[in-house]
Amino acid sequence: DQEDQLQIRPPVVTIMGHVDHGKTTLLDSIRNTKVTAGEAGGITQHIGAYQVVVNNKKITFLDTPGHAAFTTMRARGAQVTDITILVVAADDGVMPQTVEAISHAKAAEVPIIVAVNKMDKESANPDRVMQELTEYGLVSEAWGGDTIFVPLSALSGDGIDELLEMILLVSEVEEWKANPNRAATGTVIEAQLDKGRGSVATLLVQNGTLRVGDSIVVGNTFGRVRAMVNDLGRRVKEVGPSTPVEITGLSDVPQAGDQFMVFTDEKKARQVGEARASKQLDEQRKEGAKLSLD
Ligand code: GTP
Ligand code: NA
Ligand code: MG
Repeated sequence: DQEDQLQIRPPVVTIMGHVDHGKTTLLDSIRNTKVTAGEAGGITQHIGAYQVVVNNKKITFLDTPGHAAFTTMRARGAQVTDITILVVAADDGVMPQTVEAISHAKAAEVPIIVAVNKMDKESANPDRVMQELTEYGLVSEAWGGDTIFVPLSALSGDGIDELLEMILLVSEVEEWKANPNRAATGTVIEAQLDKGRGSVATLLVQNGTLRVGDSIVVGNTFGRVRAMVNDLGRRVKEVGPSTPVEITGLSDVPQAGDQFMVFTDEKKARQVGEARASKQLDEQRKEGAKLSLD
């Protein structure tokens, strides 16, 4: 029975916020503080997502800009995020892209944790941030609401442990689950053509376990997983739910937001993949015909 096989899986977190409010600095800071010295040398390969371990629990961060992740992925019907970290610079307050980020997260019904960043600055005014966000329905617990606010400095690292603890707290309440004992499904985070390796795609496994040798349909393309590399740049043979992994072996380059599915039968994967590819070609031809008639 599928229900019996559900297991708690790590939360998948994206970071959103206004330009220059510190999204990239925060992502880098989390990665640097949480990756042990021995592993640091391994992080030469950048795969657009990474996992950290906090109190023996994993958290997956998507390294793609939050807005792009939401807009392109949701447009393609994919939902990859469990929690959004809304970064608001304490010296700048709520700005247009802050508001945009809130509406994306609300539309996707994704819980928001507010990171009030740049607390090291003299001009930091966290009360103003809290005040401004009440207008968008984000009321801090201190003010009787239910939104978690974490004051921090992405630059100095102060407050980052608290942020990670809050992510785990939300996860404990939500209890996101998946079944590792089934064929893998998930979403393409990014993909490109590599001169030496061919089609290279970073996938987020959302359910099941993905293995080297699996026959897989990814968007309009297909193939067999030739090799997998994890976020530390290490070769792996299998990965479970909420894990980002880079794969090679696809016949073509898929797009961010494309969904993938493993088939136990290689012939079936090829059929589905080829059917989808030819359907796409038909659509492109029709589109081309339309354009030439216009
Ligand atoms: P975009 O990707 O361009 O939207 O920006 P971002 O949100 O990724 O911001 P980024 O991390 O690039 O930071 C913008 C600037 O703010 C950089 O100069 C950072 O060094 C600085 N910055 C980020 N976090 C902090 C902080 O906690 N304190 C201070 N003082 N500066 C910070
Ligand atoms: Na920037
Ligand atoms: Mg950035």
